[in-house]
Amino acid sequence: MGSKVKSLSLLILPLAFSLCFSSLSSKPADPTPAPWPHQFHSILFMDNNGSLQVVDLWYDWTNGRNFNIIQNQLGKLLYDLEWDNGTSYIYTLDSNKECRVLHFPVGVLRPNWLEGATHLGQQEVDGFLCNVWQKVDFIWYYEDVITKRPVYWVFYTGMTAHVMTFEVGAVLEDPKWQAPVYCFKESEKKENTVIKSVVSHGLSREGLMTGSFNVSMLY
Ligand SMILES: *[C@@H]1O[C@H](CO)[C@@H](O)[C@H](O)[C@H]1NC(C)=O
Ligand SMILES: *[C@@H]1O[C@H](CO)[C@@H](O)[C@H](O)[C@H]1NC(C)=O
Ligand SMILES: *[C@@H]1O[C@H](CO)[C@@H](O)[C@H](O)[C@H]1NC(C)=O
Repeated sequence: MGSKVKSLSLLILPLAFSLCFSSLSSKPADPTPAPWPHQFHSILFMDNNGSLQVVDLWYDWTNGRNFNIIQNQLGKLLYDLEWDNGTSYIYTLDSNKECRVLHFPVGVLRPNWLEGATHLGQQEVDGFLCNVWQKVDFIWYYEDVITKRPVYWVFYTGMTAHVMTFEVGAVLEDPKWQAPVYCFKESEKKENTVIKSVVSHGLSREGLMTGSFNVSMLY
């Protein structure tokens, strides 16, 4: 009886020690950002050096498309519709009928575009305790420690985004993804005014190309 207990503890003790030591010797791995859901809708509040925007973001990786509907404060409502083949339509739906068609060498941001970001620790932002990552000196990304939802990010330009809503699985109906007919003819007019406002917005590729940053680094 006694020898049975003894032999059992002889077996268990080394095991307990090795478990203990392995957890001491190997540091816990840094947390990694949750990949983006393949489809979601988010309302973002953006601040670019005091220029405010509300962005309706419809991320739809499944269908190879991404939509930023950008309301500038007391200003233009801009539609930025991006397809995964690199074509973007940036337009207004008012009487000016502005549209600009752009081509990018890269498509819609991949759901795992934050892979390889450096974990910087935890910080409270907007009242949420977040893990913070930095990706190639371009973006600092804050994700809720508990829910893993994005809360906030800031670009190297100082432009910030506060995530106001995050609806996983929400999809914008197909007819809304149709660029207006004037995007398909003489689209070169008024391009400068449109592109200037577009440059100030969030995670779309125009935003990523602000300054001399090479967007390919994020992919
Ligand atoms: C930010 O806004 C201030 C005040 O309007 C302006 O003086 C400054 O040049 C702006 N900075 C940048 C980087 O645009
Ligand atoms: C990319 O796809 C969109 C939507 O289907 C289409 O309008 C556009 O012409 C395509 N661009 C190219 C370069 O094929
Ligand atoms: C951006 O980087 C990619 C890959 O490193 C390179 O192929 C491309 O030529 C660069 N583009 C510019 C405009 O520097």
